[in-house]
Amino acid sequence: MKFFIDTANLKEINEAKLLGILDGVTTNPSLISKESFSSKKEIENHYISICNILQNKENVSAEIISTNYEEMIKEGEKLSLLHPRIVVKVPMTCDGIKAIKYFSYKKIKTNCTLIFSSSQALFAAKVGANYVSPFIGRIDDISYDGLNLIKEIKKIYDNYNFKTKILAASIRHPLHIIECSKIGIYAITSPIKVIYSLLNHPLTNIGLEKFLIDYKNKIN
Ligand code: G3P
Repeated sequence: MKFFIDTANLKEINEAKLLGILDGVTTNPSLISKESFSSKKEIENHYISICNILQNKENVSAEIISTNYEEMIKEGEKLSLLHPRIVVKVPMTCDGIKAIKYFSYKKIKTNCTLIFSSSQALFAAKVGANYVSPFIGRIDDISYDGLNLIKEIKKIYDNYNFKTKILAASIRHPLHIIECSKIGIYAITSPIKVIYSLLNHPLTNIGLEKFLIDYKNKIN
């Protein structure tokens, strides 16, 4: 399973790279707003910096903020020219779907975001999105089952051999990641802190402490 990091923060992206698990990066307008940019140019340069950190890895999802078809096309084409590793992230709206269809025809890669139902995921695949981003944590937040949505989308895509890749987003805890790996989806995108929590087990810490005490008690 591919591990994408859901952040626009260069320090976190470099950390994930050092951990050896960085396959790609996803951003969104809220994540971009957490970094301090004073112009669109700075944001564009930032996307290029992220692409350069990735080197030969997968890609960086850069989200368009336009909401009407013509503006989406203009903005997406501009983003796609920044670097070959840019994937244009397009919201699941009617105009967004038309834009994905256009980008697919132009061989510009897309990630259809804000997916909350299997019908939306089916639609995105039908028009040729390269990735879909179902937001599983936000579904759980309103007392529905985000992982069940992942299972449904996987089943639908397998039934018809759709090439669209499932990139589970809005990851809140390690079990989300483990369950996604059991379902067998292509990738998750997660905040770095959840990635770190995959490593933790209290018995590992207790075990290591005892090993070191035993060793130091006998060997000087
Ligand atoms: O990048 C989209 C998604 O991962 C957002 O996550 O935590 O804001 O629901 P969250």
